Amino acid sequence: MSKLTVINHPMVQHKLTIMRDVRTGSKDFRELLKEIALLMGYEVTRDFPLEDVEIETPMEKMKARKVSGKKVAIVPILRAGLGMVDGLLTLIPVAKVGHIGLYRNEETHKPVFYYCKLPFDIAQRTIIVTDPMLATGGSACDAIDLLKEKGCTNIRLMCLVAAPEGVRAVQEKHPDVDIYVAAVDDRLNDNCYILPGLGDAGDRIFGTK
Ligand code: PRP
Ligand code: URA
Repeated sequence: MSKLTVINHPMVQHKLTIMRDVRTGSKDFRELLKEIALLMGYEVTRDFPLEDVEIETPMEKMKARKVSGKKVAIVPILRAGLGMVDGLLTLIPVAKVGHIGLYRNEETHKPVFYYCKLPFDIAQRTIIVTDPMLATGGSACDAIDLLKEKGCTNIRLMCLVAAPEGVRAVQEKHPDVDIYVAAVDDRLNDNCYILPGLGDAGDRIFGTK
């Protein structure tokens, strides 16, 4: 079973509360999402291995530690996952970025695929899939399916708000993929939106509604 980590750091929770507030506009929403992504990134990368390297400080030589050659790819699920990329890139500037385009059909709530562009060596990379919302889990499961078809074996999923249904779906279909979220909310409504949630993440980031 994949591990579920709820990142309940006070600063993450504080920023998430402002994002949930219906009065928060797109500019603040985007900035907060970027900040939270960076903060959540600490937890998502916590198990990255370190190696000793020889360096020289202005005082003397020393053995210090660096992340050991880990190649990372950040893979946002379009559109809303884009909002978490810059925060993670601030933390991991050498990461490559792939894109997977999926939107939910409004009637069936099933994801519809429309775009994929990934780094050529994606199978060798540690992958962080980003999407602020994990509702039914359909989009995340399809994105992870696609990455596995390309040979990826080291995938983690970073979301902001999840519904219990979405967490269950990913854990059942992809038990090897660890999930990181800032909150697990109560339930889905009849339109498969998360309650209490924060509304439509893509629309709030890009101001499309
Ligand atoms: C939202 C969200 C997820 C998906 C979650 O995207 O960003 O990708 O829905 O729902 P699920 O877990 O039930 O699949 P949406 O389809 O609204 O597309 P957008 O990001 O382009 O607005
Ligand atoms: N997509 C969103 O943007 N919000 C939800 O609550 C569910 C799916």
